[in-house]
Amino acid sequence: MKNLFDKKEFKNLKFKNRFIRSAMHEGLADPDGGVSQDIINIYEDLAKGGIATIITGFAYTIEGENPSHRMLAAYDDKFIPGFKKLVDTVHKYDANIILQLASGGSQAKFNCRKRKIYAPSTVEHKFTKIISIEMTESDIKHLVNAFGDAALRAKKAGFDGVQIHAAHGYLLSQFLSPYYNKRNDKYGGSIENRAEIIFETYRNMREKTGDNFPIFIKINCSDFMEDEGLTFDDSRFICQKLDKMGIDFIEISGNVGFNEVQPQIIRPDINKDKTKQCYFSKYAAIISEEVNVPVAVVGGNRNFEMMTELLNSSKIECFSLARTVLCESDIVKKWQDNTAYEPKCISCNQCWSLKQGNICVFNRA
Ligand SMILES: Cc1cc2nc3c(=O)[nH]c(=O)nc-3n(C[C@H](O)[C@H](O)[C@H](O)COP(=O)(O)O)c2cc1C
Repeated sequence: MKNLFDKKEFKNLKFKNRFIRSAMHEGLADPDGGVSQDIINIYEDLAKGGIATIITGFAYTIEGENPSHRMLAAYDDKFIPGFKKLVDTVHKYDANIILQLASGGSQAKFNCRKRKIYAPSTVEHKFTKIISIEMTESDIKHLVNAFGDAALRAKKAGFDGVQIHAAHGYLLSQFLSPYYNKRNDKYGGSIENRAEIIFETYRNMREKTGDNFPIFIKINCSDFMEDEGLTFDDSRFICQKLDKMGIDFIEISGNVGFNEVQPQIIRPDINKDKTKQCYFSKYAAIISEEVNVPVAVVGGNRNFEMMTELLNSSKIECFSLARTVLCESDIVKKWQDNTAYEPKCISCNQCWSLKQGNICVFNRA
């Protein structure tokens, strides 16, 4: 029987258990995107808390194109010393740290009126109402290169890997969506074409970082927008193709941001009702059977017993936690002592607080 505390080795990465901290933007980086002391403190706490692998909050790869306030930046070598400090802190506690790389597209929330917002096509965003500028092929090349350069910076700083953020309605996820991607060139049309930018991004990162540097991807199992968005079959196709191309790890999420219609990425009020938890697991379970690469699932993982059952009834290898570890950074240690421990997180979705950073309501002393 498989156990959530099994020690695993995926590629050349040692996991001391099967728990991952999924990427969570803190809103606490230095104003220029550098690693601040607040960020170091948060990650030190997480690493002490027993989690095997920590994925950072999303970091932007092109100067001035940050979709959120005070997010981490990875567009220049000047960020490497701060990253090194962060990585060294986490490594003291025998945990891995992966840098998540992202681009916002028209789902941006920061400084949007003062800059041009690029996306696959000129389409008004359903919720932000931003009308994006269609990226040229040369813009796409620039972006792909920027992700590759940022991955190399991550390697130089000592990160254990990088994660491509292709989920939740941000730029790469918009390329996958027929609603946002109306292109007639090699980046639009069929799902193979809509995913081309992701394949090129992965190849560019691989070329720059070499065969042994772990590259993860976070991808939606579906946008849940019917034909307007990425479908489950589309997602399965991309995962299978990336598996063949050599990606090292797939983390399955779902849905796009700002969607008022259920189901959401970050679902509220799930703590009392177990049937509402682990909400993307049935999709991740199918994908896990279809690829060779390890698959993790994120979204509503709250209950140790439920995750253990899923671990043993599918090929899902790891379980990612977000809000629960924002609430209790030592949740994994608590489960180590008592697997029946119920997380304190009440899934109230009040984690967002722009001025103070994204801090759980229970920790806002
Ligand atoms: C405050 C906050 C910030 C987040 N930032 C990111 C991010 O930077 N990148 C990302 O891929 N997902 C981000 N997410 C989504 C989480 O990684 C996760 O997919 C979602 O919260 C569902 O998991 P949970 O039920 O364990 O919270 C964020 C979620 C929260 C609550």
